[in-house]
Amino acid sequence: MTIGFGVIGAGMIGTEHARRVNNVLTGGEVVAVNDVNAEGAKRLADSLGGNVKVFDSGHDLINADNVDAVMVTSWGPTHEEFVLSAIKAGKYVFCEKPLATTAAGCQRIVDAEVAAGKRLVMVGFMRRFDSGYRLLKQAIQDGEVGEPLMLHCAHRNPEVGETYVTPMAIQDTLVHELDVLRWLLDDDYKTVQVVFPRTTRHSHSKLRDPQVVLMETVKGIRIDVEIFVNCKYGYDIQCSVVGEDGIANLPEPQSLLVRKDAKLYTTVLTDWKKRFVDSYDVELQDFIDGIGSGDLPGPTAWDGFCAAVASDACVKAQETGNIEPVTMPARPAFYD
Ligand SMILES: NC(=O)c1ccc[n+]([C@@H]2O[C@H](COP(=O)([O-])OP(=O)(O)OC[C@H]3O[C@@H](n4cnc5c(N)ncnc54)[C@H](O)[C@@H]3O)[C@@H](O)[C@H]2O)c1
Repeated sequence: MTIGFGVIGAGMIGTEHARRVNNVLTGGEVVAVNDVNAEGAKRLADSLGGNVKVFDSGHDLINADNVDAVMVTSWGPTHEEFVLSAIKAGKYVFCEKPLATTAAGCQRIVDAEVAAGKRLVMVGFMRRFDSGYRLLKQAIQDGEVGEPLMLHCAHRNPEVGETYVTPMAIQDTLVHELDVLRWLLDDDYKTVQVVFPRTTRHSHSKLRDPQVVLMETVKGIRIDVEIFVNCKYGYDIQCSVVGEDGIANLPEPQSLLVRKDAKLYTTVLTDWKKRFVDSYDVELQDFIDGIGSGDLPGPTAWDGFCAAVASDACVKAQETGNIEPVTMPARPAFYD
């Protein structure tokens, strides 16, 4: 059976995901598109060819008979209403991060899904589907470096625009680490703190860059994440797990090593899309396959909620300069 997809949000990632479903993956086909920008929706529908219907309302799209699964790729503040609407209609929904812009909003989605009694929601935290992070997780599970004690991580972008301000380093950037490190360690955050080194001259008045986020997990693992979004040299994701018996590092993306002119060098990626292109393919293929088997893969709505709670605590820590607790309610048995 081919899964009919309805895409809400025909912007950058919506367009990429829609083309991925139609041209790269198997088992799915985009049948409907909606965007507040009607022209954008029509452009995407036309580019997909075939019989893709453009809907004026995201809710009407969700309720269309030939839409089996909803893809929410609109702006973050609109995600909650569309995910809740999909749950109400009993439809599977892939929601790009964030699941909702507030922890309270994520909680409402968790409550709705639990009440529906069936897993319908998957959140687009694609790093869990990256082959490098999967190797790292396997190494931890196999005890390759013993029990993890510390993690040293970095999330660096070459540059950001003027609209990128200090809290976005948490909400838009660190949020990927907040999800993937919880998953990697099978642990939850206990406290967070944010410290600010000297600010780079490449930043602007509303952005303190770089930032260092210090976290402690429930198991007592210490994590430091450097967020440096005007690092200039490239898009660079680092994760080093220091264990009792050794250290395991996230593999570097494959690149050519050149010996020339008395130098030994390689290139660093600059585009985040290229860094994780394979993981986007794997996550959406797993979503399609999960619908087919009735068993959706993670990340769950609960994971989306946990990321939001940790993100809120980090933003608070940016403001107070204090060590802030991450207060999480007990996980509903539904998500065990
Ligand atoms: N997982 C990732 O790595 C990743 C990467 C990029 C973007 N994202 C997330 O995907 C989402 C979209 O990001 P983007 O970069 O594609 O943004 P974008 O601005 O390019 O596209 C968003 C689209 O949503 C539409 N939209 C806004 N409100 C709407 C509404 N009420 N109903 C229907 N459509 C509406 C806009 O008109 C726009 O076309 C964001 O939440 C972003 O955080 C995730």
